[in-house]
Amino acid sequence: MPASCLDNEALSKLVDTSDEWIASRTGIRQRRLATSSQSVSEIASTAAKNAIAMAGISPLDVDLIILATSTADDLFGSACQIQTQIGATNAVAFDLTAACSGFVFGLVTAAQYIRTGVYQNVVLIGGDILSRWINWQDRSTCVLFGDGAGAVVMQAKESDFLLGFEIKSDGTQNNCLNLSYSPESQALTSGFEVGKGNFKPITMNGKEVYRFAVQRVPEVIDKALFRANITTDQVDWLILHQANQRILDAVAQRLNIPSHKVISNLANYGNTSAASIPIALDEAVRTGQIKTGDTIVTSGFGAGLTWGAAIFKWG
Ligand code: ACO
Repeated sequence: MPASCLDNEALSKLVDTSDEWIASRTGIRQRRLATSSQSVSEIASTAAKNAIAMAGISPLDVDLIILATSTADDLFGSACQIQTQIGATNAVAFDLTAACSGFVFGLVTAAQYIRTGVYQNVVLIGGDILSRWINWQDRSTCVLFGDGAGAVVMQAKESDFLLGFEIKSDGTQNNCLNLSYSPESQALTSGFEVGKGNFKPITMNGKEVYRFAVQRVPEVIDKALFRANITTDQVDWLILHQANQRILDAVAQRLNIPSHKVISNLANYGNTSAASIPIALDEAVRTGQIKTGDTIVTSGFGAGLTWGAAIFKWG
């Protein structure tokens, strides 16, 4: 995780907001920020190395690296830089973009390669540096996001630990949340003009995204539970994309999952986009909360719009 930590008090010196407003509306107290010289590939490589060490394998055993990100250092992709930085010379590496659903989409994608017997060891990383793309004068968005990376190693075993999943997209609501190209023309020669590379900062219709999350996330979780043939009583942990405590509470309530099973660390990190689920998972495993054999329900949701849920056993 980036070391630099900005709390709500410090943020309220930048825009007209307060710790009370941010904490009561979102649950966020502070967020980590990458410096201008830190890269997504650097923080993602650190997360990947930690996951590989925990799995007890060598970087040379890694067959595939998937980097779920919306903020690659290079529009051509950052996963190959990670391959080099972690010394996984036998791995193929690519980026996957599905905003805050990126980790869940990556989990499902990686599982297909494992299920078909193509790959044995996959490193899946969620990493984003959204602070580069935020308008720090816009209090409606700048208070929400933070930077970070988290990773898991997914391995082929005799039994399938991905018990069920459901992933969805709806482009009709694309304009609710964007980090989009800002068209600007440059003239070439007579009769020819092309665009110039430039992106607008993040824009978001917070109310619409809130409504979407609270309605759609329980639906995909229900579908994934059905596919896994289990009920919510058999679920040990709910790890949702860490966007807003109110969303976490509302989803858990709709699913009848008690709050002690809901993993939440957004007070410390804010919304770290594709990184939020693996960071929360990693912390819960390292602190001994999540144990081998536990059944975890995870769900990501965000820009696209995209959303999805996956049920898996830890171990
Ligand atoms: N500090 C103080 N006041 C603020 C702030 C702020 N940081 N931001 C907005 N306000 C004001 C508004 O101007 C408004 O004032 P007004 O009533 O005088 O007009 C008032 O607070 C209420 O604003 P709302 O936008 O209605 O606040 P709401 O209760 O909807 O909360 C929030 C906003 C927290 C953004 C909420 O809508 C939300 O969490 N939405 C989901 C966002 C989300 O999860 N996004 C991430 C998706 S993941 C991805 O893909 C990146």
